Amino acid sequence: MQKLIRSAIVPVAGLGTRLLPATKSQPKEMLPVARKPIVQYVAEELVANGIEQILFITGRGKSSIENHFDHDPELARLLQSANKHELMEQLNAVELNAKFFYTRQRLQRGLGDAVLCGENFAGEEPFVVALGDSIIGLHANSQAVSRMAELFHAKRASCVLAVEEVPPEETVHYGIVEPADVDGDVVRVANLVEKPAPGSAPSNLAIAGRYVFSPLIFDMIRRVRPDARGEIQLTDAIQFMCEEGRRVLALKLPPDEKRYDIGNFASYFGTFVEFALADPEYGPGLRAALERLLARAPVRS
Ligand code: UTP
Repeated sequence: MQKLIRSAIVPVAGLGTRLLPATKSQPKEMLPVARKPIVQYVAEELVANGIEQILFITGRGKSSIENHFDHDPELARLLQSANKHELMEQLNAVELNAKFFYTRQRLQRGLGDAVLCGENFAGEEPFVVALGDSIIGLHANSQAVSRMAELFHAKRASCVLAVEEVPPEETVHYGIVEPADVDGDVVRVANLVEKPAPGSAPSNLAIAGRYVFSPLIFDMIRRVRPDARGEIQLTDAIQFMCEEGRRVLALKLPPDEKRYDIGNFASYFGTFVEFALADPEYGPGLRAALERLLARAPVRS
């Protein structure tokens, strides 16, 4: 099959303040969800969708991400001499079938600014952006990025966003799409609204952490002025594309490829439990333990 898009940018430079103190001296993208750190699910998903090279936008205090994807000869020797072949295979899988690149965002000036750090890496080709704190689908089993790349080419789009339906009371937390028209799971985007005030959201379709962009996005990011918190928002750059009449499309994620956002404790806890319950070895035992616990201590609200 023809390779549609080869490159992905994964921003992992954010400060993760909503997860303090867990993130005081470790990146939130390295927090474990069941057996693996979050960023490993992201890399595995990208490679399973045909991505051949990944640029991580890192920052101070994020070097454990580089170490995680690097080969560790000492550990390999230790496991080899202890005949732990299964563990060795799992570690080889971490090294994955892709090339990894790293660059630093020197000041945490927002997601738009982080993506701009990948301009030279992307060059003249379209590319994927995958947020390093969001997993798509249980255990990252998702082909959404491939479907987005196909749509991008088939419709000659400038941008394709993954979106998911969220309850109306939660739209205030997300970038929300104003649809121009809807055809099945494909939405033509008229405008984007970042964190709309309660009751004013133009839809319940929230941007879900995966994007396909033409390199045109870099010019748009350069035009964005910092918001009240001094951050350059990626959503503002995509809004410029909409205003210029460029084709911005959104693809709805199906319920079995939902987005797990790890950026706050409520969804991090929920995601950990859901992934651990689905673990073939330890899931059934955890389920029994949780049932016992819940029977003993009724949940207080
Ligand atoms: P968030 O919007 O969750 O921001 O980032 P954050 O700064 O990490 O978290 P809080 O609000 O302080 O808790 C979404 C993704 O974009 C990256 C993050 O690492 C995360 O993967 N990001 C965000 C950057 O790479 N650089 C930035 O300046 C901001």
